[in-house]
This record gives sequence, structure tokens and C-alpha cells, in this order.
Amino acid sequence: MNHPSILFATSEMAPWVKTGGLGDVAAALPAALRRAGHDIRVLLPFYPALRQAFPKAKVIAELPALASALPPSRLLIAKATKEADGLPLLLLDCPSLFERPGNPYVAADGNDWPDNAIRFGLLSRVAALLGQAASPLDWRPDVVHVNDWQTALAPAWLRYEGGAASVVTVHNIAFQGCFDESLRHALGLPDAAWRFDGVEYHGLLSFLKAGLQLATRITTVSPSYAQEIQDPAFGYGLAPLLRHRRDALHGILNGIDPVLWNPATDPALAAPHYAHYAANRLAAKRANKLALQQEMGLEPATDRPLFGVVSRLTEQKGLDLLLALGDALPELPAQLALLGSGDPGLQDGFLALAEKLPGQVAVKLGFDETLAHRIEAGADCFLMPSRFEPCGLNQMYSLRYGTPPLVQATGGLADTVVDVNDATLAEKTGNGFVMTDGSIDALWQAMQRVTAAWQDKRLWQRIQQNGMRCDFSWRHAAAEYSQLYREVLGQ
Ligand code: ADP
Ligand code: GLC
Repeated sequence: MNHPSILFATSEMAPWVKTGGLGDVAAALPAALRRAGHDIRVLLPFYPALRQAFPKAKVIAELPALASALPPSRLLIAKATKEADGLPLLLLDCPSLFERPGNPYVAADGNDWPDNAIRFGLLSRVAALLGQAASPLDWRPDVVHVNDWQTALAPAWLRYEGGAASVVTVHNIAFQGCFDESLRHALGLPDAAWRFDGVEYHGLLSFLKAGLQLATRITTVSPSYAQEIQDPAFGYGLAPLLRHRRDALHGILNGIDPVLWNPATDPALAAPHYAHYAANRLAAKRANKLALQQEMGLEPATDRPLFGVVSRLTEQKGLDLLLALGDALPELPAQLALLGSGDPGLQDGFLALAEKLPGQVAVKLGFDETLAHRIEAGADCFLMPSRFEPCGLNQMYSLRYGTPPLVQATGGLADTVVDVNDATLAEKTGNGFVMTDGSIDALWQAMQRVTAAWQDKRLWQRIQQNGMRCDFSWRHAAAEYSQLYREVLGQ
């Protein structure tokens, strides 16, 4: 069994359903594992966007109600030919739970769907079932690989009832899926699971805790974050458990999709306004700055750097620090282009800043894939002052786009961005700017360093090229997951 077969369960997958990095990872990692020789299938809910993309998906199993709160459902199969080299998708169809518009987790009013425990309880239950003898399919995975809290309850059934080995990947420990105790019966968990070393967490049923406690192995999306989450400052209450299971915990850095994120071919950078470029054709990048300034309503200034942000607007991302400094941007001098959505306080704050500094600060609220690519290409420096960052994809996109990132030294940011100084420039590794601590002062000083370095065009080009040379392709991560699956199976 050199290449174990894998069920990869996820609550989002680009390009159909994406709220953040998990969507990108779920699209790229299984495809890379398939190319590496694994028989891998992706299980995800049959959301409206998937129904639309795969109208001919074939029903392969009817599932009865698997517990008192879980409605009957069915499984369909489709092949993601165009997007992922023929990757088979197992689509969990249950219209009463998944046939809803918009974001997969929250309703239009911004609140979580009140039945998320049932929705993702069903997804987890079916992920487990497909790894058990009772599976309705002929195909049986050797390993059930689950992601974040939405699928993290699956290892509980696999542990208590038997079945495949399991791996749980933590993309963000801040989201844990904690629900009322009464749900344990409703979801059909055995009484034996209600223990401090089972699914119980401070009197609540915790999906993520269950996975961390009961999966055969735990991974997270960067080596530094694997260390950090064992520390109470980063573990959101789960640090002691992770310290206890540290021998089962691995940090594997995410990759990026080098085809989707390629400045030489990116369709978002089509002529006449935008332009394709590469490490040896960096002059062409300038057209993108001008086009972005025009598109976002910024002055076409060429004497100052343009900082870019594409982000969920949440406490995690540290953008309140940037907001606190916003008024002083013209002093640097610098411009800012921000695309994001989330916390209403931050949204309003950035809108007010843009109103106060027209031509210097432009803000677009919402989720816009094309504009995200254009900001990566058109900005001079990409800002990511995150308080914690399990991996972070945007800093890798910006390195590839010759847009050196300014980051806080945490998680995957610390593992991918090398601060520019004499030594790292001599080694040709310095590729960005790393803040020393998470204070407003540290951000300001780092932005001053960026502005000074940007004025030195030769230095700036060296930094850009060091970043563009980095190889963040999924091949490396796929090889590490492959090795882990074999270890899990005792090979
Ligand atoms: P996280 O998963 O914590 O949000 P990542 O850096 O891993 O952070 O991934 C975020 C992904 O979501 C990137 O692909 C980024 O381009 C995308 N993204 C975030 N916000 C937006 C937005 N408002 N519009 C378009 N894409 C966005
Ligand atoms: C999460 C993290 C982010 C990571 C992504 C994909 O949403 O916040 O840092 O890159 O998952 O693993």
C-alpha cells in the first residue's frame, strides 16, 4: 500500500465555495496528492454553487437518517475535470441543510446558521461512515483526512465504532465548533464519547476538540504554528491537549497553486490596462500599479509606494493597527488599496479613512477574486500584520507577484518571509519585511523601512526577485502528507 487511499473531507473548496484559505487548500492539495499517486476523493456538501457546476452529478448512494437529528441524505459523484485533473468529488446532498445562498457558515444577517451543529454534524458523520465497514460505497479509504471543526467530529465515530485511520488538519484553532451537550445524542455519538478525553469540552460538545483528541494524527498548516498552538497564548484553550499529543502533531506548510497565481499568465491582468510580467520582465509590473490606482480611484502617483491588503477583516489579521496609523500614511508618504470584508467596526473604520484621504486610500468591501489578483500585482508591498496566522496564503501569492510582504513574525508568515538585511541580501534570501512585535510602533517603523527601501530601485528589485524565486508549489506539502499517511498506517 505505497499510496494509501484517502477521503478528504472539507466544508469549502475553491472555486465554488471559498471564505478563506481552506477553500484554496481543499482545491489544490487533493489534486497534488492525486498527481503523487493517491486514490483520493473529496467529500463536501452539495451547496448551490456545486449543484450549478455539476448538474449531471450521479447519485451513488441513498443514506438513511444516521441519528435522530440527522435527516436522510444522498451522495452524488462528479469529476472536477477542468479544475483539478479529474479529481472525484463526493457531494453530500441534503437540501434542507445545504441548499442556502451565500456564505456556507453564516446567514445574511452575519450570524451563524442556527443549525450548524446538524449541518456539519452530518458532514462529519458521513465522512466517518465512508471510512467504516457499513459504508454504502465499494470504495473504502485507508485514511479519512478532515479539516477544521466542520469535519473534525468524524474521528470520534472512527475511534468509538472502528474504521479507517484519521488525520485532522487545523487551519485555524480560533474556530472550534462548540455546541450544547444535548447534541451528542441527537448526532448519535456513543455515551462513551462523553469524557474529558473524548468529545466533551468544558461541558460542551466541541467538534475540534474531538478531532484533536481522537484522530490518529494531527497536522497544522505551518511548522511554526504547530509550535505556537501548544502555547496558551495561541492555543485558544486547546494548548494543554496539543502538548499532551505533541508526538502526533505535525506542521506541514501549505503550498500555492502556481497556475492560478502566475503573473505571467493571470487572466485578471489582461491588456489593455493590466499587464503580464515575470521576474526577468519586472518593468511591466508598473502598468499594473497605474491600472489599479485608476480602478480603485487613487491618484496615479509614482513617487510613493502603494501598500495592498486583501483580507478577512477580523481581529486575527491585525488590521486595526493599520487603521490606527491610517491618518499618517501621507507622511510616509504612501498609498493604500484595501479589499476585505468582515468585522463591521473595521469596515466602517476603513471606509471613513478612505473618505478622509481620497486619492491616497481606497477601500473596497466585499469578496472579489479578480480585484484580489490585481492588488497582488499592482501594489508595491503587501501588508499582513496578523496577530496569528496558521499559514497565510496571501504572503506567498505576493512573493510570487514581486510584491514584497510586510508581516508579523508568526505562524506561516515566519516560515515564508525572510526579513531584508545585509546578511539576507548577501544570501539572496531576504524577500520581505518582518515586524519585531505586534505594536502600532513596530508597524509604523516597518512601513518606514519599506518606504525607504522602495525608493532605492535596485535594492527593491533584488528583494522582489528573491521572493519570486521561492518555490511554494504543493509538491513539497503533498510529499509530506504522503509520508504521514504511510506512518499513520504503520508502514
Ligand atoms: P485566511 O484563510 O485566514 O482568510 P489566507 O491568507 O490563508 O487567510 O487565505 C485567504 C484567501 O482568501 C486568499 O486566497 C485571499 O486572496 C482570499 N481573500 C480573502 N479576502 C478576500 C476578499 N475580500 N476578496 C477576494 N479574496 C479574498
Ligand atoms: C486558515 C488560516 C490561514 C491558512 C488557511 C489555509 O483560514 O487563517 O492562515 O492559510 O486556513 O490553511
